[in-house]
Amino acid sequence: MKIKFTETILRDANQSLIATRMPFETFEPILETLNKAGYYSLECWGGATFDSCLRYLNEDPWERLRKIKKACPDTKLQMLLRGQNLLGYKHYPDDAVRLFVRKSVENGIDVIRIFDALNDLRNIEVAVDEALKAGAEVQGTICYTISPIHDLKSYVETAKGLKALGVQSICIKDMAGIMSPKQAYDTVKAIKEAVDLPVVLHTHSTTGLGFMTLLKAVEAGCDVIDTAISCFSGGTAQPATETMNYVLKEYGYETDLDTAALTKINDFFKPYRAKCLDSGLLNSVVMATDTDALGYQIPGGMLSNLVAQLTAQGKLDKLQEVLEETPRVRADMGYPPLVTPMSQMVGVQATSNVLQGKYKNISKEIKNYIKGEYGRAPGEISEELKKLVLGDEEPITCRFADTLAPIVEETKALLGDRAESIEDVLSYIAFPQLAEKYFDAREEKKKKTYIYSIKAIKED
Ligand code: CO
Repeated sequence: MKIKFTETILRDANQSLIATRMPFETFEPILETLNKAGYYSLECWGGATFDSCLRYLNEDPWERLRKIKKACPDTKLQMLLRGQNLLGYKHYPDDAVRLFVRKSVENGIDVIRIFDALNDLRNIEVAVDEALKAGAEVQGTICYTISPIHDLKSYVETAKGLKALGVQSICIKDMAGIMSPKQAYDTVKAIKEAVDLPVVLHTHSTTGLGFMTLLKAVEAGCDVIDTAISCFSGGTAQPATETMNYVLKEYGYETDLDTAALTKINDFFKPYRAKCLDSGLLNSVVMATDTDALGYQIPGGMLSNLVAQLTAQGKLDKLQEVLEETPRVRADMGYPPLVTPMSQMVGVQATSNVLQGKYKNISKEIKNYIKGEYGRAPGEISEELKKLVLGDEEPITCRFADTLAPIVEETKALLGDRAESIEDVLSYIAFPQLAEKYFDAREEKKKKTYIYSIKAIKED
């Protein structure tokens, strides 16, 4: 049997270890080798890359994608998409979702992994439909979590629902790295038996389970695994590519990976890793094995956010209380999986409950969630919370995007000449302030280049 590998160095490993701060120029020289290494796909776009390009790197995310595509014509390029949330934190109207998906494919994406934080399939159906129409390979995603209402049966039901939408493969997404080897074996087996589709496992090494979890998943019939090149693996990133390749081959599985290419890729990233360590961008905290996450079931990224929030307010001594409050808030909300944006929402509310008093302040996002604007809660929302937010009002039960008016044409008109392409319009829809900042910087740069070229002409 052949096992395929998706390499995460350009997206999830980059995001989990160094906050997605790797500029295009840094990895450009190794793209040719990544293209020829025998990966099934290169995860390189979506997630936080779009936000980070505009916010920190002064890069056009679309241009980054086109450049990667040009350098990697032989390997599939993959992105992570938050369904109706696209790459942001709120629901967008359908016209924006469809255009975004279509342009992602046109600019170079081959595989789109689409998820909804609540596993509410109504929130991914439009993105899935458009991705299929655009000719992409669609990975329908199940967000894995542990709660009294999530079990094997519920995951199998979600997998069947995804198959009914027409997806070509099913990804089990364990964003917190809390899926045990046994759970991986049982879940992959049950899903493979229920739906005849390739299964992909995405996990993180955070709690130290990762390698074992991937191995047992493969034994249960998993077709594709997500791994990161070794010097950017482990900790809050994925298990190492070379290690999994070595072990699987010893067990007699076939892989397409070229070990010489993997060595070359790893050697290439080693000096950059050293640089990140020196600058503090890569912190030892994210590289360590953190078994606390098994107890709290809090994703690594969320834990570091809580620490940062409390530190900023000089209240780090309250961390233990916040960690204990987090599962209670999550239970009150009907056990949403702790993935973006739910992880942030639950964390902020738990912090506020500890610092200001239980539900004294309820965030706007949580209010909207209770109103039904994020979709269907997996379980029951607590009566207390419903009463506090809704009063006598009824929550929305339809798909929230059905209540949103189209925005593409309006945004195009608003931007006028400032948008140089339809991709600019989409960047603006996704992140208005960041896009604006990027447009200004681009304008500045052009003016400078113009002055330089005039100067050059004069001096000639
Ligand atoms: Co991940």
